[in-house]
Amino acid sequence: TVVRRLDYRPPDWFVPEISLDFSLDSLKTTVRAKLEVRRNGNHDRPLRLDGDGLTPESVMVDGTLLDSSGWRLEDGDLIIELPGASHVVETEVRIAPEMNTQLMGLYASGGLLCTQCEAEGFRRITFFPDRPDVLSRYSVRMEADKTRYPVLLANGDPVGAGELPDGRQWAEWHDPFPKPSYLFALVAGDLVANRDSFTTMSGRKVDLGIWVRKADLPKTDHAMTALKLSMAWDENSYGREYDLDVFNIVAVADFNFGAMENKGLNIFNSRYILADPDTATDADYDAIAGVVAHEYFHNWSGNRVTCRDWFQLSLKEGFTVFRDQSFTADQGSAAVKRIEDVRVLRAAQFPEDAGPLAHPVRPDSYMEISNFYTATVYNKGAELIRMMAVMLGGERFRKGSDLYFERHDGEAATCEDFVRAMEDGGEIDLAQFRRWYEQAGTPRVRATLSHNGTTAKLHLEQNVPPTPGQPDKLPMVLPLRVRLFGENSAAPLGDERLVLLDAAEQVVTFENVVERPVLSINRGFSTPVVVETDRSAADLAFLSAHDDDPFARYEAMQQLMVDTLVASVAGGKLDHGPVIEAVRNTLTDPALDKAFVAEAVLLPSESFVGDHMLVVDPDAIHRAREALRHDLGLMLEREWRAAYAATQANRFEYSPEAKGARRLRTVALGYIAASGADDASELAFTQFEGADNMTDRQGALTTLANGESTLRAKALEAFYERYRDNALVLDKWFTTQAISTRDDTVDQVIALSKHADFTLANPNRVRALAGAFTVNQRAFHAADGRGYAYLADTIIALDKLNPQTAAKLVPPLGRWRRFGEDRAARMRAQLQRIVDTPGLSRDVFEQASKSLA
Ligand code: ARG
Ligand code: ZN
Repeated sequence: TVVRRLDYRPPDWFVPEISLDFSLDSLKTTVRAKLEVRRNGNHDRPLRLDGDGLTPESVMVDGTLLDSSGWRLEDGDLIIELPGASHVVETEVRIAPEMNTQLMGLYASGGLLCTQCEAEGFRRITFFPDRPDVLSRYSVRMEADKTRYPVLLANGDPVGAGELPDGRQWAEWHDPFPKPSYLFALVAGDLVANRDSFTTMSGRKVDLGIWVRKADLPKTDHAMTALKLSMAWDENSYGREYDLDVFNIVAVADFNFGAMENKGLNIFNSRYILADPDTATDADYDAIAGVVAHEYFHNWSGNRVTCRDWFQLSLKEGFTVFRDQSFTADQGSAAVKRIEDVRVLRAAQFPEDAGPLAHPVRPDSYMEISNFYTATVYNKGAELIRMMAVMLGGERFRKGSDLYFERHDGEAATCEDFVRAMEDGGEIDLAQFRRWYEQAGTPRVRATLSHNGTTAKLHLEQNVPPTPGQPDKLPMVLPLRVRLFGENSAAPLGDERLVLLDAAEQVVTFENVVERPVLSINRGFSTPVVVETDRSAADLAFLSAHDDDPFARYEAMQQLMVDTLVASVAGGKLDHGPVIEAVRNTLTDPALDKAFVAEAVLLPSESFVGDHMLVVDPDAIHRAREALRHDLGLMLEREWRAAYAATQANRFEYSPEAKGARRLRTVALGYIAASGADDASELAFTQFEGADNMTDRQGALTTLANGESTLRAKALEAFYERYRDNALVLDKWFTTQAISTRDDTVDQVIALSKHADFTLANPNRVRALAGAFTVNQRAFHAADGRGYAYLADTIIALDKLNPQTAAKLVPPLGRWRRFGEDRAARMRAQLQRIVDTPGLSRDVFEQASKSLA
């Protein structure tokens, strides 16, 4: 049951048209499907329609009912021998949305009915060739009880609606754009809409609707603003215009991931729609805008041009992530956005690339495609597009993307098609660059700068580490933005250069280097690699103050902090001085914007420090980091207090400046607490109680939750009482405790998993507790293995309900190679226990068995 990329064959049958007729009911929904099927080429293979858990009530071909000898079921699929080149096939099935705990296909969430079909959920609704290269025009008719489901939505444009006897009603929708089945969607429920409109660049008026439960309506304005900004941005930046008369978004409370780009009817996890100052943090607001943009941009990069097969997933996801990142960068601080994106890449993708689940951006095989919606396909995939954009420059990149959309509009395309369009439109040779799609693993670059007379030589070496199934690697093309700075003048020595490192070793020469140069390399993180240099603490501190690229400044500071922490874990000389001075300089530099300062003065996470060690010692890392935090807090206490006072706002405001101030304020509060100051808890509690927004409130709660003060319990209790009826905020309550740096976090998490408000049925709640816990390196890796056992228990229990979400929890256990023998053995034992569980899903089996290997 392994699917391989090179086994791709075009479909045997096409389905140019499909009509679906739903009689909706939460326990018994009837689905009638009418497919026009057309044989593709001269073969005699039967029609095979994918099915998952379906039994046909009836099968008709060209209007004639087949008896049971006319069709058969094979592995759940419906097989029909058909004589001619084209036929009309009709099937009827019954499904029970209420019983669907996997949240794939048609399911119930908080009283409404909704769908999720990507990647292979449509086959749980009706029999169909459920693969992305079969494109059909959809007509959808729905009928349902009018009181329970007053609103009936589907893809495309509404074409009719009316009343029926017995309190029922019907509605019909038609989508003129042929699409693969994974983009099908419907929603039925008691919803209200925030309505608005957008006029496209060619002057067409599009009706916009964001559909939610009535009580949530006041929380939809931010998402609506983001949607309109996204529509305008895609016109300006890529020349892409919206193409239907309506665009609807629906928010649902139970959802396996962030959101889904169904044509004309995006369905969202409510956490990426609902926001107001009292319940959403600035990070939530940003995530909402980013996801709304992402799903909207899919209309072109995903829907108009879709994927030929699921190995090409990064074609739409990598490109669309790059597009949403660019959008966000254009709305606010591009530097801070880049810092955040690189942090995510390093926290989620680098470990994936370094572990047993490593796979190329375009994978070669899978057991369960849901397991390949990964940081590699999404975030590293976005970095590949970004590198092409860096090498081509804005204008040629745009020519490439224009050509891509023009060539492949209405088609199911491949990653290769995208690269070729970039080559042809951008006039560049990307032959060797293609290796980025083929080779897994994060390349490592060793950079050594030497200086002699007025010449500097930069010696570069690259090495791509072996990954499962790929022992030997070829050199990649690494676009490195490089600049030198003079140590004495603190000024740049010449312009920035774009070095294309495409061999195992290369030397780059710089002339007119009249003073000792300091190397600034991989500026803006122009290529997703690990760079090793022998730059001293003094050089890094220098760059953190004088580099003209804000990302490089941040990066130098991070490197300085990591070097310091790694050295102190290794028992080396404990000198916090350079970090403290560098942080002081950044914190007191009036020219820097507050959001940037807040990012730059944050210590790297414990797991990021661990990524720099041969064997991760979670306790030692925690101690070293807490010690450095303490010293930073203590030595700069005056500065932190000044920053804290200077970021006090009178009234909540949602602007980049106000957001930056809030961010710095909470970082400063954290350092004041780390200093051990007597009044820190009081300060935090005062902020907690007085806050007029969730960012300040949760920031204060986090500080209290990490501490020992009696105010901790008081704040957690108050927070719970205030928000117990708001699921999204209650998630924060769980997460804040799961990521606490306290010694008793494992016990707390296990206790919370038995809390009345904890449920495995809601993926957000699971991620808020179990998912967040795995990010807490020290707690999750508690030496006695209780963290591992808790996670395995959760995975095994959840797998029975929701395999997809269960499988996402497995990778943290797969990192056992990075830890000492004792921990490794305990992690393996839990993976083994998972693998040995009877009736395990394919999803969890793939992740757990590969993690053991
Ligand atoms: N296409 C959706 C998005 O990125 C996500 C779908 C995830 N599907 C899955 N099976 N994990 O916007
Ligand atoms: Zn996407």
